[in-house]
Amino acid sequence: MSRLDGRRVLVTGAARGLGAEIARCLSDAGAAVIVTDVLDDPGRAVADALPGPSLFRHLDVTNEDQWTAAVAAAGEHLGGLDGLVNNAGVLHMAPIEETSVGDVARILSVNVIGPFLGIRTVAPALRRAGGGAIVNIASIDGVAGMNSVAAYSASKFAVRGLTRSAALELGRDNIRVNAVCPAMGNPEMSQPFFDRIDVTRYMRHRPPDVMPAAANAADAARMTRFLLSDDSIGCTGSDFLVDAGYLAGHFQPGLPGF
Ligand SMILES: NC(=O)c1ccc[n+]([C@@H]2O[C@H](COP(=O)([O-])OP(=O)(O)OC[C@H]3O[C@@H](n4cnc5c(N)ncnc54)[C@H](O)[C@@H]3O)[C@@H](O)[C@H]2O)c1
Repeated sequence: MSRLDGRRVLVTGAARGLGAEIARCLSDAGAAVIVTDVLDDPGRAVADALPGPSLFRHLDVTNEDQWTAAVAAAGEHLGGLDGLVNNAGVLHMAPIEETSVGDVARILSVNVIGPFLGIRTVAPALRRAGGGAIVNIASIDGVAGMNSVAAYSASKFAVRGLTRSAALELGRDNIRVNAVCPAMGNPEMSQPFFDRIDVTRYMRHRPPDVMPAAANAADAARMTRFLLSDDSIGCTGSDFLVDAGYLAGHFQPGLPGF
């Protein structure tokens, strides 16, 4: 297992779902974790249950002042920061013609401006620590398009661009920046939209011979841990799909041997 002993890592959107899974995975590996979210009580509960050093801070990732305060808290309580996981995200599922400019602005604000502010605010702290690592949580929807998620998909493609530019700018300061593109996070994220979607039809269109369900939040959390650790020292400016081969290509049953 990749170790993170003594590393101090801030995780956004960590009150539930993938973010909480990441916080636990990093803590298990020896990291001190700053759990942040807009959901205060669940966020505090996640932080309190971690085996290692932790603290909770309210952080709306679209709010620059709250970013400054969270980084200051990390300095005050843990002496600095070595890593950042930009995990907080929101989803909107609707056809383009039923998606308002306000919907798109909200998605871009949390999913793109959030990580942008995070990188901008945390970079000086990582530099002071002599370097560090940043992981941006994108999605398979940031690698391939899908109907009903135009705004979300655009935001996750943007995260991959942000990742590359940040990696190029911060590499000279020994700061690595990578993106994780999971197929699966918290099913609760898409649940509110399922009343308008025929879920059985949606699932049936997933090819039976690859295994998106096998790539779960725990798998994405372990990839995040790897990318924060020195085991991934040679990796920066890249995307790491955690999709059990879902986007690997087209599987054709009936061909020789299959
Ligand atoms: N759910 C999926 O199937 C899936 C698939 C691929 C990628 N992802 C990505 O994984 C990440 C985590 O999502 P999840 O699946 O755990 O869903 P989730 O809804 O359980 O978690 C998202 C978290 O972000 C927080 N959040 C929302 N707006 C925020 C803001 N403005 N500031 C701070 N926190 C905010 C929420 O409170 C929540 O705790 C997201 O970036 C998401 O896009 C999810």
